Amino acid sequence: MENLAWIDGSYYNLEEAKISIEDRGYLLGDGVYEVIRVYKGKPFYLDAHLERLQRSAEAIRIDLPHQLRDISSTALELVDKGRCVEGYIYMQLTRGSAKRDHLFPADTSPVLVMYIRGLEPIQAVEDIQPVKAVTLPDERWLNCYIKSTNLLPNLLARQKAAEAGAVEAILYRQDETVTEGTRSNIFAVIDGQVRTHPANNLILPGITRDIVLSLLKDLSIHFSEKAFSLKELSTADEAWATSTTMEVNPILAINENNLSTAPGPICSRLMAAFREVIAKNT
Ligand code: PDD
Repeated sequence: MENLAWIDGSYYNLEEAKISIEDRGYLLGDGVYEVIRVYKGKPFYLDAHLERLQRSAEAIRIDLPHQLRDISSTALELVDKGRCVEGYIYMQLTRGSAKRDHLFPADTSPVLVMYIRGLEPIQAVEDIQPVKAVTLPDERWLNCYIKSTNLLPNLLARQKAAEAGAVEAILYRQDETVTEGTRSNIFAVIDGQVRTHPANNLILPGITRDIVLSLLKDLSIHFSEKAFSLKELSTADEAWATSTTMEVNPILAINENNLSTAPGPICSRLMAAFREVIAKNT
């Protein structure tokens, strides 16, 4: 495949694609983004990602420069042109390029870019490695439902987690309520019930999270979108992270505590069911 980029109607090789040094996304983090998985040449849940992009853009008062259906056909064309079979589309929308100022520029057009990159094809469910996680304070703002390019708190926590030998940091607010991961949503089985933080301003409403919630319904597994505390998490029998790139990823240990099973029985069922969703959508 070719790592291809699209900027405002034109295609470029990713290494040659350029935007202005005064782009507000670059200077000020004034933008939003999406990451969309491509399985077997087909973007997975593209419409759901585009609807979230629109909601993020609205929340920071950027007008989408194109209709959603045109952005969708451009994404499909990009995947096709670059012969992307297994990979992802990265899409970013910024307020555009203008003389640096905290105020929104008056006559600047938003800049939409997208590019594709390859990923390894998905592994067999049996080969998915449970991962270690650590808990760290959630130092982000109060509008985490916006998929903003301002990712510094996420990056710092992820780096700290990696340096502690973990793949993900599970974040908690000052009152010790667990919110989500640095790049994933977190589920835990506490007292026999599947729990995950409600989709409010404190988390990103993950597309994978939504799929998992509907799978839980289909499988008649009782769940509750009710936040849990660090203390409750420490009693969990199972936990897993969900995201576009992590899919449904079992958590093996949180801090120094090993979970009793990873993947546990519920997570195993979800991993298999998620594979069926992928198969149905490719
Ligand atoms: N991250 N929470 C956060 C903070 C995220 O950054 C992500 C996704 C998710 C899961 O969302 P979804 O299921 O829609 O991918 C939850 C992407 C993949 C990233 O930044 O790379």
